[in-house]
Amino acid sequence: MEHTPEIQKQYFQFAYQTGSDIWTHIPYTYKAQQMLPFMERDALVLDIGAGRGLWAAKLVGLGYRVLGIDYVESIVEKVNKRIQEDGYMDRARFMHGDALNIPFVDKGFDMTTDIGTLQHITENNWPQYVSEIHRTLNDHGYYLNISLSRKTPQFLGWNPHSSTDGNFTKFGVHYHFFTQNEIQEIFGNHFNIIEQQFETYNSQSDPNDNVVLVFTLMQKKSAS
Ligand SMILES: C[S@@+](CC[C@H](N)C(=O)[O-])C[C@H]1O[C@@H](n2cnc3c(N)ncnc32)[C@H](O)[C@@H]1O
Repeated sequence: MEHTPEIQKQYFQFAYQTGSDIWTHIPYTYKAQQMLPFMERDALVLDIGAGRGLWAAKLVGLGYRVLGIDYVESIVEKVNKRIQEDGYMDRARFMHGDALNIPFVDKGFDMTTDIGTLQHITENNWPQYVSEIHRTLNDHGYYLNISLSRKTPQFLGWNPHSSTDGNFTKFGVHYHFFTQNEIQEIFGNHFNIIEQQFETYNSQSDPNDNVVLVFTLMQKKSAS
């Protein structure tokens, strides 16, 4: 099946409706939490491609305020309802929005997190993505990215490690597996990399899958 942005969006929508999304089940939270920088209580965090809102809920538990965006409207509505029922609407809210056109003003956030969203954005849109993350972060704001790594030996029966370009399409969904160099090249002009770590997980995507994630904490470079 060909990849188009519309088919990909429908895939995420369907996956959330049916509970068949494969990413939410990867236990990345522990490592992600370990890599968070020190920030004041009440710091404002933007979570890009926030999905079911589980990471956002974790950030609220750590004392931060969170705005999440996702381009699937139905999951945004569902998560906002849950946030209301759970009584923390004053600490977190989700909005319908695209990572390539973030619906917030400049320099509004102390930190932005992206857990598994950039990997679904095609290479031609990476500069626009970085520009939007950079625009909406405070001076010296932090950015935590968690993405599929090219070190991955097996994913849905495919071997990213031996791939030359790291691109893979399955069920109309685009996946990109990142090298360390790519991350440096994509973000290096606008961000300093503070810390980078890799973690391997047995994914539930396919019986023998073994997925390596790359965790990168960066800080916005000051304007020169
Ligand atoms: C792999 S899921 C990760 C969800 C969540 N961050 C998590 O860790 O469970 C990727 C998410 O990014 C969203 N997404 C993909 N492309 C997007 C875009 N251009 N703008 C906003 N959201 C996007 C999808 O709808 C999906 O919820």
